[in-house]
Amino acid sequence: MKIINTVREMQNHSDFSRMRERSIALVPTMGFLHEGHLSLMKDGKKRANEVVVSIFVNPTQFGPGEDFTSYPRNLDRDLALCQDAGADVVFTPKDTELYQSAYQTYINLTKLPNHLCGISRPTHFKGVATVVSKLFNIVKPHIAIFGQKDYQQLLVIRQMVCDLNFDIEIIGAPIVREADGLAMSSRNTYLTPEQRKQALCLYNSLNKAQELVNSGVIETAKIIDAAKDIISSQPEAMIDYIRICDPDTLEDVQILDKPVRMVLAVKIGKTRLIDNMMLTIESLNKL
Ligand code: PAJ
Repeated sequence: MKIINTVREMQNHSDFSRMRERSIALVPTMGFLHEGHLSLMKDGKKRANEVVVSIFVNPTQFGPGEDFTSYPRNLDRDLALCQDAGADVVFTPKDTELYQSAYQTYINLTKLPNHLCGISRPTHFKGVATVVSKLFNIVKPHIAIFGQKDYQQLLVIRQMVCDLNFDIEIIGAPIVREADGLAMSSRNTYLTPEQRKQALCLYNSLNKAQELVNSGVIETAKIIDAAKDIISSQPEAMIDYIRICDPDTLEDVQILDKPVRMVLAVKIGKTRLIDNMMLTIESLNKL
């Protein structure tokens, strides 16, 4: 496995691979890897000749007062995990390699970031879109793989790729969960054992929502209220948002007459967690 720190070397490597007609899959990450990240690498292995994993804690996607400096980092452990997962290259640049002092170009989407996480994190998706477009120009992948765990991020990237004509196929991979259902996240390490138990309320409320849909409830307000009850019963939980929305536009849906995405963000103590699930209405069709 090759470890690359500079833009120039990464571009040269990819140019050489492309010249030899080797396909490249990019898995962008901020490191502190877990099974969720590894599943993206394994998926990439099946789809392309080479998997490039980027590890870069991107300063521009963190707002003031957010956890950029305390974000967990462990490069040695990450490199070993990448190697085991079959990554061919790890691209891990310094902050100054991607953002020189004169840096001034950012990518803004006009609609998708006005929903969900974009409301409490107003500059987040600008930073994500910017760094991912830079990674696309640096790694020159044929495909790029993102997790559905960050559902709004996946939509933002798909939209950006379409709007800016990147010739890259975007894959949305399923959410990998702990045995009890908690969505894996690098930020789970912030949780105390007591908070870890309470964090399960996100997954429980998504499951409760699907149960209600199965039993014939079609008003999203009722489903959201039930989720609120589950989450509010946890002493350290603070709801940022719970929404049931159109899976493409993220606009709120009132009545379930098509598949929708239920999305939520909850703070457990100081740790902000997100999760989401498609709500399927097969049972409604049978009624
Ligand atoms: P990070 O949070 O490290 O996540 C990297 C990728 O792993 C994202 O595509 C994310 O959706 C995916 N992922 C995280 N947890 C997952 C899980 N439990 N199951 C499946 N996939 C999971 O997302 C970012 O980094 C950054 O915003 C980035 C795209 C790298 C830009 O800086």
